Amino acid sequence: MVYRMIFNQTAFFGRGAIQEIPAQAKSHGFTKAFIVTDPVLLETGTVAKVTDVLDKAELPYEIFDNVQPNPPVENIQDGVEKFKASGADFLIGLGGGSPQDTCKGIGIIVANPEFSDVLSLEGVADTKNPSVPIFGVPTTAGTASETTINYVVTDTANKRKFVAVDPHDIPVVAFVDPDLTDSMPRSLKVATGLDALTHAIEGFITPGAWGLSDCLSLQSIRMIAKNLAKSANGDVEAGEQMAYASYITGMAYSNVGLGLVHGMAHPLGGRLNVAHGVANGILLAPVMEYNKDFSGEKYRDIADAFGVEGAYSDDLETVRDRAVAAVRELTAELGNPTTISEVGATEGDLEALAADAFADVCTPGNPRKATLEDILGIYKSLM
Ligand SMILES: NC(=O)c1ccc[n+]([C@@H]2O[C@H](COP(=O)([O-])OP(=O)(O)OC[C@H]3O[C@@H](n4cnc5c(N)ncnc54)[C@H](O)[C@@H]3O)[C@@H](O)[C@H]2O)c1
Ligand SMILES: [Fe+2]
Repeated sequence: MVYRMIFNQTAFFGRGAIQEIPAQAKSHGFTKAFIVTDPVLLETGTVAKVTDVLDKAELPYEIFDNVQPNPPVENIQDGVEKFKASGADFLIGLGGGSPQDTCKGIGIIVANPEFSDVLSLEGVADTKNPSVPIFGVPTTAGTASETTINYVVTDTANKRKFVAVDPHDIPVVAFVDPDLTDSMPRSLKVATGLDALTHAIEGFITPGAWGLSDCLSLQSIRMIAKNLAKSANGDVEAGEQMAYASYITGMAYSNVGLGLVHGMAHPLGGRLNVAHGVANGILLAPVMEYNKDFSGEKYRDIADAFGVEGAYSDDLETVRDRAVAAVRELTAELGNPTTISEVGATEGDLEALAADAFADVCTPGNPRKATLEDILGIYKSLM
């Protein structure tokens, strides 16, 4: 077995990390930035935090703020045209997963125009050229798009989300600055934090996991178990730890893959526009339950990370149940929905959701091979 690990060239962490952007641009010889972001971040002043730094350094930029949540193909195509007209020579993906993923799609298509339909990038995309260089600047603590080789796009015509996996899209430099994540409202801290927890747990139990990814995934689970609820309740120090925990799990899952939670969450986003982290939060404990006999000793580590007594001494069955219960309790404490009917699913949606989940690129990463009937059964149990 040979393991491949792909990381950013450089990453900065800490309050004030975005101050490093101009010097990094200069050292790479970049002269004009194209900032990909969304209208909320523009209105609420998050974009200004970055443009103030660029203004001070007299680094020219143009802002593209058209990105929608669960970004559609059209956002990327629009961005490609605007980028070409801008004269910029590098990209700044500024936002949660949606702007950062759109930014990756833009950078990839500008460098590989034969994929301008966007849809042909699905799965392991066969691009030949690295993206236009990207600086990744997260404003949520969940997707870790700033350090992953993936991006997620919505095929609006077919109401589905798809994942593009492409080492050519990884941001060259990441700037994880908790000053940009503090402003998240509670609901967004919860949703994106549950996304990060799902990455950490799925990346930990996927068959592709190994020693190096386990260090990252397990440490991230520990940090999230300790800090997510506190962060949601306004503890700024805990919020800072969540920003780092998200990045740490991103370094692992980007390289080893995810599983059925993500496979089943994507159709909820694509068909019903459910926020990605909310969908993961609904599915995480039920899918952990479904996977528990296929997880070896790893639920002991998860239980221990959640502070469960006897994680390494009690019998495995009991500990596995306690690990699932610990995740279920955290999700309940955070107030995330627990059924898919709460987020708009009806009986009539279930077959199409299950078919999409079965075909999703994340599903094969699950430790237990899920059949279409298994997936339908899990969705039904969550009505
Ligand atoms: N690239 C990857 O590896 C990867 C991994 C997981 C998920 N995703 C994708 O990322 C998307 C979800 O990203 P997300 O959960 O980060 O949310 P998002 O980017 O969709 O943002 C959701 C909302 O939160 C607002 N927001 C963002 N940061 C804020 C802040 N600091 N303060 C106030 N409001 C803020 C945005 O303006 C937006 O309205 C989904 O499409 C998902 O499928 C990508
Ligand atoms: Fe995710």
